[in-house]
Amino acid sequence: MATVHVLDHPLIQHKLAILRNKNTGVREFRSVIGEIAGLMCYEATRNLPTKEVQVETPVAVATCRMLSGKKLAIIPILRAGLGMVDNMIDLIPSAKVGHIGLYRDPETHQPVEYYCKLPEDIDQRVIFVVDPMLATGGSAVAAIDFLKARGCKNIIMMNVIGCPEGVKAVQDAHPDVELYLAALDERLNEHAYITPGLGDAGDRIFGTK
Ligand code: PRP
Ligand code: URA
Repeated sequence: MATVHVLDHPLIQHKLAILRNKNTGVREFRSVIGEIAGLMCYEATRNLPTKEVQVETPVAVATCRMLSGKKLAIIPILRAGLGMVDNMIDLIPSAKVGHIGLYRDPETHQPVEYYCKLPEDIDQRVIFVVDPMLATGGSAVAAIDFLKARGCKNIIMMNVIGCPEGVKAVQDAHPDVELYLAALDERLNEHAYITPGLGDAGDRIFGTK
């Protein structure tokens, strides 16, 4: 079973408290969710391979390390995952971005697919699937199914808030996928919302409610 990493860094936890607050407005919410994604990306990329390179500084030659190994891809689950992409791309400008469009049916809570556009060489890349919320896990499992059906093998899942039900769903369906969370909340409520959670991430990022 792959590890679940809950990132308890003080900066991440501070920013998460801002996100959870129902009085945080759209502008601040969008900006803070991006900042958290950047900080989570910093932690989730900690074990990427590097290679030694020689760099000429204005003074002498320095032995340095640069990223090596497989190229990276960031795959936001639309639409709320979009809020996490820009700050990650700032840190990994060479990563390509693919999009998987899924929404949860309000009655059944099952994911419904409506869009998919991935880099051509996606099966050759290390993939970060990003979405602020891991609730029932249906959307995450469907997105990972999708990627595996296209030959992807190295997949990491990044969610800001998860809950035990969502973690179990991903671990049962995809035991090879490592999970990074900023918080593991208590449970789902009767509407399949994470509690205490932060409400509807997409609506809070885009101001649609
Ligand atoms: C939210 C969230 C996840 C999904 C999580 O998206 O961003 O994609 O729900 O729920 P699950 O784990 O039970 O599948 P939503 O369906 O509200 O769509 P949106 O991003 O377009 O708002
Ligand atoms: N989607 C959200 O945006 N929030 C939840 O709590 C559950 C699903």
